[in-house]
Amino acid sequence: MKNPFIINGYQGSEYFCDREDETKKIVNNLKNGINTTLLSIRRIGKTGLIHHVFTKIQTENTFKCIYIDLYATQNLNDLIEKTASALLSAFPEKKQTGKKLMQLIKGFRPVIQFDTLSGEPQITFDFKQEIQMNHTLQSLFTFLENQQTKTILAFDEFQQINEYPEKNTEAILRTIIQNLNNVQFIFSGSSKHLLMDIFNNSKRPFFASTQAIQLGFIPIEKYSNYIQQHFESNKKHITQEAIYFILDWSKRHTYYTQVVCNRLFSLELKNITIKDVHHSCNQLLNEQEVIFFQYRNLLTSGQWKVLKAIANEGKVYQMLEKQFIQKHALGATSSTQRTFAALLHKEMIYEEQEKEGSYFSIYDCFLSRWLEKL
Ligand SMILES: Nc1ncnc2c1ncn2[C@@H]1O[C@H](COP(=O)(O)OP(=O)(O)OP(=O)(O)O)[C@@H](O)[C@H]1O
Ligand SMILES: [Mg+2]
Repeated sequence: MKNPFIINGYQGSEYFCDREDETKKIVNNLKNGINTTLLSIRRIGKTGLIHHVFTKIQTENTFKCIYIDLYATQNLNDLIEKTASALLSAFPEKKQTGKKLMQLIKGFRPVIQFDTLSGEPQITFDFKQEIQMNHTLQSLFTFLENQQTKTILAFDEFQQINEYPEKNTEAILRTIIQNLNNVQFIFSGSSKHLLMDIFNNSKRPFFASTQAIQLGFIPIEKYSNYIQQHFESNKKHITQEAIYFILDWSKRHTYYTQVVCNRLFSLELKNITIKDVHHSCNQLLNEQEVIFFQYRNLLTSGQWKVLKAIANEGKVYQMLEKQFIQKHALGATSSTQRTFAALLHKEMIYEEQEKEGSYFSIYDCFLSRWLEKL
């Protein structure tokens, strides 16, 4: 029996909860020549949504969808290599267009290797000058522009370009992209860096020309129905109380909710009650304890203390509020402020907006639940 609660990657719309509005919006953008920027905190479902959109749009239209993960890229050269490799995968050499692409790429004197496991091409270039890089990138996009079918290119973890030594990467991409009519883009990344750039630098019109979609938590009712339905269709019964507990305990942070459901499903119980959920949640925390202790070793005692305080509050709206600082005996406001900044930088905590205002929470939901119990 397949566990329907996926905790890795995308496995089709059957295993994908909701995101109907967001999917519609992005598909609509793609059909109407609007590029999209997808933003959210980590592990909410951006990458999943990109693949979901690809699946949908490929059934409706004859778009060519290409996904490029920039997470591991460290410079412009890496980005070009990733792009060229992704293009080669999308246009196999068996076909005429693939042959043309291969010829084009070979002109840039690459080393082409094929991954022994996946068989995917992996290209490395040895550029001596920046102008060669620009030219290569331009040529790759021109190749796409000249195809009969429209290409959709998703750059995931796009905030990574801020880390490149080539500070003009954004300008280079902007120049190329604004002249393309037959290639549509989805840029995706964690909000922190991307949003900072959109709002802090008005000279950067890159994102102004895209529609930004902020991905939030899946609504309670939608997720609750989804969970119920997947248990029921596999002849397992789960109580409403148990489902609501899962959603609350995992804070509806998609990855963590999926992990809890995946665990419960794997227990092969016919009837799942809140007791089973409590047991599984505790088990998950116990299994992760080694990692939590490592976190503690990597943080200063002050950072650990603030982390515990945030865990106990769940959400901290005012980090400098007297009541919060005094209640948790955090000391001087200036040092608390610095500690929050350090924890944000280490991605131990995130800042998110909601109707009530912006708040801070711990990224790793399990760590947060574990800290609460200390
Ligand atoms: N709508 C959904 N329904 C069910 N599972 C989902 C959904 N969206 C995401 N997931 C699952 O949640 C986990 C996190 O999703 P994903 O990797 O897409 O998040 P992300 O926002 O791209 O994270 P990161 O910022 O770390 O790259 C994955 O295991 C994925 O399978
Ligand atoms: Mg992702």
